[in-house]
Amino acid sequence: MTADRLSQSWDRGKEFLGTRYAILGGAMAWLSEHNLVAAISEAGGFGVLASGNMSAESLRAEIRKVREKTPKPFGVNLIVLNPALPQLLKVVLEEQVSHCVLAGGFPDQDTMGQLKAAGIRVIPFAPSLALGKRLVSRGADALIIEGHEAGGHVGPVATGVLIQEILPHITEVPVFVAGGIANGAMVASMVAMGAAGCQLGTRFVCTEECVAHEKFKKAFLRAQARDAAVTVQFDPILPVIPVRALVNKGTEAFNQLQLQLVQEVKSGQKERKAALLELEHFWVGALRRAAIDGDVEQGSLMAGQSVGLVNNIQPVRQVVQELVAEVEARLANPSPGPG
Ligand SMILES: Cc1cc2nc3c(=O)[nH]c(=O)nc-3n(C[C@H](O)[C@H](O)[C@H](O)COP(=O)(O)O)c2cc1C
Repeated sequence: MTADRLSQSWDRGKEFLGTRYAILGGAMAWLSEHNLVAAISEAGGFGVLASGNMSAESLRAEIRKVREKTPKPFGVNLIVLNPALPQLLKVVLEEQVSHCVLAGGFPDQDTMGQLKAAGIRVIPFAPSLALGKRLVSRGADALIIEGHEAGGHVGPVATGVLIQEILPHITEVPVFVAGGIANGAMVASMVAMGAAGCQLGTRFVCTEECVAHEKFKKAFLRAQARDAAVTVQFDPILPVIPVRALVNKGTEAFNQLQLQLVQEVKSGQKERKAALLELEHFWVGALRRAAIDGDVEQGSLMAGQSVGLVNNIQPVRQVVQELVAEVEARLANPSPGPG
C-alpha cells in the first residue's frame, strides 16, 4: 500500500465527514451526550450523539447544546428498532443534522429515504458484504463495519475478517471500521487497507470529558481485554442478545437466571414467552446504572476488548492526537515504493 493510497482513503473519510481527521467517536448510550460529542468534534474528529436512551425533546436539546459548544460537524445515531424511531427521526430532520448513523438492524427504505430527501448523509452499519452492497444500492452514503471485539451490541464476525471481506469490494462509498481499535498504529493499518477512517467507543470512555461515573472509568482502567466478554446463551430455546461488557456480579446473576428459566421452560413450569420477557427485563436500565450511577457490580459495563489497552484518563484532544499520529507521520514521510 503506497502513501498515495493511504492519503486517498484518509482524505475521502475526512471530506465525507467534513473534519480534520477521519476518526469517529462511536455513539455510546448515556455517554455520547453533548460534552463528549462536542469535545471529539472540537478536537478534529467526528462526535456522534447517541439517541438510544433519549426522548425526542432531549435529543433536540442535546443537538442544540453540541452546536452551542462547537461549530464543527457531528452526527446523530438512531437505533432502527427503537419504538421511538419516528419521533427521533423527526428531530434529526427538523434540526437538519448533517450525518445520521443508523444502528441496531437493517434500516428500512422509508427511514433512509426521508433522511436522504432532507440532504442528510446516511451511514448504516454493514454486518456482511451482501448486506453492505444492499445498503449501498438503497442509497447509503457511507458504511460502518464493526467487528466482534467491539463494546456493546456485537455481531459475530471479527474486525480482521470483516475488513478483508468488505473493504476491497465496496469502493462506491467510504467505509469506516470499528471494533477493537485503540491506537494510532491500528488506525493507520485500517486506512492502509482502504478504510476511510475508524470509529472508536471504548477508548473515549476514559476521557476527561466523558460523563461516565468515576467507578465506571476505573473499572475500564483495571480491566484486561479478556474481561470484556459477550453474553453467554445457554440454550437456543431462550435466545440472548449478544452484548460485550465487563463481567461482574450482574453477569453472574443473569447467567443464573437464564439457567433457571431454561429449566422452567423445558419442564413446562413456565411459558417461553414469559421467560423471554423476564430475561429481557433483566438488563433494562443497566447501562445507566453502571455508567451514570456508578453501580459497577450489578449494572452493565459495556466495553470492547480494547479496554485492555486503555490505561489512563486523558483529555479527548490528546486521545485524538495519539490516534492520528501514525497516519499523519506516514503521510509526512512516505516510504519509497519498490523500484
Ligand atoms: C458503553 C457503550 C455503549 C454503546 N452504545 C451504542 C449505541 O447506543 N449505539 C451504537 O450504535 N453503538 C453503541 N456502542 C458501540 C460504539 O458506538 C462503537 O461502535 C464501538 O464501541 C466500537 O468498538 P470499540 O468499543 O472496540 O471501540 C456502544 C459501545 C459502548 C462501549
